[in-house]
Amino acid sequence: MKLYNLKDHSEQVNFAQAVRQGLGKGQGLFFPQDLPEFSDIDSLLALDFVTRSSKILSAFIGDEISADVIAKRVKAAFEFPAPVVAVEKNISTLELFHGPTLAFKDFGGRLMAQMLAEVSGEQPVTILTATSGDTGAAVAHAFYGMKNVRVVILYPRGKISPLQEKLFCTLGGNIHTIAIDGDFDACQALVKQAFDDEELKKELGLNSANSINISRLLAQICYYFEAVAQLPKSVREQLVISVPSGNFGDLTAGLLAKAAGLPVKRFIAATNANDTVPRYLVNGKWEPNATVATLSNAMDVSQPNNWPRIEELVKRKGWALKDLDAGMVSDETTKVSMKALDALGYTSEPHGAIAYHLLRERLQPGEHGLFLGTAHPAKFKESVEAILGKELELPKELAVRANLPLLSHNMASDFGAMRAFLMALPW
Ligand SMILES: Cc1ncc(COP(=O)(O)O)c(C=O)c1O
Repeated sequence: MKLYNLKDHSEQVNFAQAVRQGLGKGQGLFFPQDLPEFSDIDSLLALDFVTRSSKILSAFIGDEISADVIAKRVKAAFEFPAPVVAVEKNISTLELFHGPTLAFKDFGGRLMAQMLAEVSGEQPVTILTATSGDTGAAVAHAFYGMKNVRVVILYPRGKISPLQEKLFCTLGGNIHTIAIDGDFDACQALVKQAFDDEELKKELGLNSANSINISRLLAQICYYFEAVAQLPKSVREQLVISVPSGNFGDLTAGLLAKAAGLPVKRFIAATNANDTVPRYLVNGKWEPNATVATLSNAMDVSQPNNWPRIEELVKRKGWALKDLDAGMVSDETTKVSMKALDALGYTSEPHGAIAYHLLRERLQPGEHGLFLGTAHPAKFKESVEAILGKELELPKELAVRANLPLLSHNMASDFGAMRAFLMALPW
C-alpha cells in the first residue's frame, strides 16, 4: 500500500511507515494512492464479519502484509459484534459499542494495536494521543500491558464524562493519562506540536493513535460493510447513513467504503453546535468558532482533523461536496431526540441521538435510514439518566472501574511542560 502526504505529495510512505508515523511532514495526513473497488459486492457481503473485513483490509494494504497475517490480526481485533437494530420501520441503528470500552473506537484502537505490533517488531513505541472522550479508553485498553509500548493520553480536564474518565485513567502500568486545562482542540494542538519536534519524535519513537492513523480508518471501513450485510437486500440502493461527527474520522471511513463500492445513497454528517463543516458546506467558508461544550462532548471539535481527507477523496472520485448532507443539532434538540428514541423503546445517548434526529428530518419516502450508535448510553450515565428520568444499569466493563482512583496528572496547556513530562517517562 502506498500513501502520500496531503500537504506534500512528494512524501510517500508504505502502510508500515504510515502506521508507525501516524502523521507526515508538516502534520500532513496520509492518504491512499490506490483506492480499491470491489466488483462483486454481493459475494463480499455474504461473508462473515471477520472474513469479509480481512478481505477489505487486504485490498487496501496489498501484499505488504500477507492475507493470512491480516486475517489473524483482524480476528484478534474484531472479537465482538456490531449488530444492526431496528428502531422504526424505516430506520435502524448500527450498534458499535459492544467492545471492551463500549464505543466505536474499539474497532480502530484494537486493529491499530494489532497492526502496530505487526510492523514494529521489537522497536519501542510511545503512543501520544488526544481524546475528546472515547479514543483514550479504546487506545488505552487496546495497548494495555503490551511490551515495548507506552501510551500517553491527553484529555480536556472536566470536559469528558466521569465514567469515560474512569475507563482509561485507572489502568496505570504502561498507560499514562494527563488532564489538560483546556479544550480538546488544545489537547490536539499539543499532540501536533510534539509531532513537529524532531528530537522528541526520535527520542520517544512517537506515534499517534488518533483517528488520523490510517489503520484506524481502515478498521472503520469494515463496519459499514457489516451494516449493509445485515440489512435486507431490498434497502441496499436506498440507504442513507447518518454519522455523528466530531473529528470526521468515522465519516471519512464511510466515504471510503462507498468509494470501494458499498451501496450508500448518501451520508449525513451530523454535528453538535461545533458546526464548522455544516456551515462550510452551505457557504464555502472554513470558519471554525471557539469550541463550545455540549452534551455530546466527544464531538466538541471545531477543527476536525480528518476533513482534508474527505476533500481529497471527493476530488479523487469526482464527487461533489454538495452531495454530502450535513446539519447541526443543538443540545435542546438532542434531548428531544433522546426522548423520542426512548418513547420508541430504544435507549440512546447524545451522540447517536444527534445522528438520529437529522436522519429523521432528512429521510425521503422510499429511503431506509441507518444511524451510527457510537457509544453505549451508560458511558454518559449522568446526562442520560437526567434527560430520560430513568436509571441505567452499568455494564460490567464500567462497573469494575467506577470506584477505582484516577491516576491522571493535571497539566496546563503548555507544550514545554508536556515535553518535559514525556522526556522523563520511564520505560
Ligand atoms: C461517542 C462518539 N460519537 C461520535 C464521535 C465522532 O467521531 P469522529 O471524531 O470520527 O467524527 C466520537 C469521537 O470521539 C465519539 O466518541
